[in-house]
Amino acid sequence: MNIILLGPPGAGKGTQAAFLVDTYGMVQLSTGDILRAAVKAGTEVGKMADEIMKAGKLFPDELMAEILGEHMDAIPAEKGLIFDGYPRTAPQAELLDGLLSSRGRTLDHVIELVVDEDALVERIVGRYTCANCGEGYHDRFKQPKIDGVCNKCGSMEFKRRPDDNEQTVRTRMAEYRAKTEPILPIYDTRGLVSRVDGMASIADVTDAIKAIVD
Ligand code: AP5
Repeated sequence: MNIILLGPPGAGKGTQAAFLVDTYGMVQLSTGDILRAAVKAGTEVGKMADEIMKAGKLFPDELMAEILGEHMDAIPAEKGLIFDGYPRTAPQAELLDGLLSSRGRTLDHVIELVVDEDALVERIVGRYTCANCGEGYHDRFKQPKIDGVCNKCGSMEFKRRPDDNEQTVRTRMAEYRAKTEPILPIYDTRGLVSRVDGMASIADVTDAIKAIVD
């Protein structure tokens, strides 16, 4: 099973991808995480991505597809893929068709997380992750069971993303509205889109996604 999770910044794509990984043994392909790893590694791609991400703009389509293809090749064919943050433009949607078909894969679901944009700023600005294992948390909506200690690995170090500030979030949302939302009709005509209320609690969103993929 191969799935696209679609929704604006902070809609809960990463949160729900983690559930799909844990429950179905799928592999999450987050283009944001891939670019952040390149930034951390200080590669040429990383230097380019760093500037683009800090501005809330989008990384170039062709290069993004090439990098994504390399990551897809490293995943065993029997593992299902979750595309988290990809595609984000009409050219990326077309490129994804090629990336999938050349690897003998098909797309099974496009799950759109429908959210209220105003609430997303609070979600994003309050978000942080474990610096060791990457588990995601939120100041209000998802706190560690023991204050200051990661539920998953016990680390006491946490970090926040440099692009998680209100100004950049507004640009990321505008990019989503202008370039990503218009690709939904492409998948609608193929009958692949399911819409989920992303404003529900994390557990309820998970249940709705489970009902789609089971
Ligand atoms: P990326 O890393 O993909 O960021 P994004 O799309 O902006 O999405 P986020 O990771 O911010 O949000 P999310 O939907 O995963 O929300 P989360 O689950 O964390 O991209 C970053 C940048 O990289 C882009 O701006 C661009 O520059 C570049 N890039 C990436 N892909 C690209 C591509 N394909 N092409 C070109 N450029 C690309 O949830 C947010 C918070 O809310 C969490 O704290 C969570 O605990 C909480 N939360 C989640 N669900 C709920 C809920 N139901 N109720 C309450 N709280 C909730």
